[in-house]
Amino acid sequence: MTGDAAVLEELSQSYRRFAQAEAHGVSAVYEDLALFIGDSPELLGFIATFPDERRQPNLFLAAVRHLAGVPASGDGLVRVVRERPQDLRRIMLKRTTQTNEPARCATLLPLLARLPQPLALVEVGASAGLCLLPDRYGYDYGDVSLRPELPSGTMPPEFPCKVGGNTPLPMALPRVVWRRGLDLNPLDPGSQSDVAWLQTLVWPGQEERAERLQAAVTVARQDPPKVQRGDLFVDLDKIIEAAPDEATLVVFHSAVLAYIGEEERREAFAEKMMNASAVWISNESPRVFPRIAAQAPPSPTEGSFLLSIDGQPVAWTGPHGQSLDWFA
Ligand SMILES: C[S@@+](CC[C@H](N)C(=O)[O-])C[C@H]1O[C@@H](n2cnc3c(N)ncnc32)[C@H](O)[C@@H]1O
Repeated sequence: MTGDAAVLEELSQSYRRFAQAEAHGVSAVYEDLALFIGDSPELLGFIATFPDERRQPNLFLAAVRHLAGVPASGDGLVRVVRERPQDLRRIMLKRTTQTNEPARCATLLPLLARLPQPLALVEVGASAGLCLLPDRYGYDYGDVSLRPELPSGTMPPEFPCKVGGNTPLPMALPRVVWRRGLDLNPLDPGSQSDVAWLQTLVWPGQEERAERLQAAVTVARQDPPKVQRGDLFVDLDKIIEAAPDEATLVVFHSAVLAYIGEEERREAFAEKMMNASAVWISNESPRVFPRIAAQAPPSPTEGSFLLSIDGQPVAWTGPHGQSLDWFA
């Protein structure tokens, strides 16, 4: 197999894997389109012209959708690539997959609510900062529902979260007196085009998620959380220093450390957080910190995230905040 053929074969496999392991059962349209791409030398050839980190199914499908809506079929997808290759290229080179899922606050809340209040929150990899507002959303845990008091006329989203038996459900929302985000590429909830991109990253077939995202954006626009541009390996210390002394400082992240390819760098970050003067909450794929995952029981569902506090695993969580299986 020549170098080029090997690249196309690898790409084809990654699109098939995405169809079968990720889109299957979640987004039928994306599953069909990804399988079509996996079999199309023309589409794989186009995608292969991008740098490695810009070839992922999530980015390509979102860019097509952002430009031309969701194609009804593989042939429709080919038409977009043939007719508007430069527009597509521009989006794929400019944008990144930085889904901001505020529903993940539902899985962080049991930990946040148990800490001494009030809280100062720092989120690394915050995207548009929507997870920095856990006190401004509503939650439905089945037996317990919580709603914030917001200025009249604002309807907060309500995040449903299916919880396992011994989950310590929060009885009140946390009291947050300070919040700050850090991201390589912060998105602005006040910008139409950034919000349109965030909406595009929610897969077709997940319209309820998209509606709740829009409601969270409306809440954020009233008093946007500050998200500063920077790298979590370089700029976190300064933010920690700026936090007020009279609140419990919490540094948290969800779906971020998987962006750091090298395990040694992720371990170095974990080490740093274990020694920091802050509570450290991590909500990530179990592959991110294998040493923490080794202390957890087997995951109930493929694709779950592992929630931990100061290096201690406490629960398996739905990757979009939809469930919480407490085991600590
Ligand atoms: C998938 S998004 C998750 C956003 C948010 N945490 C959530 O759960 O909705 C991951 C974010 O991490 C950011 N990111 C990746 N590597 C980073 C780094 N080294 N420093 C700061 N931010 C980073 C990306 O830009 C992106 O916005």
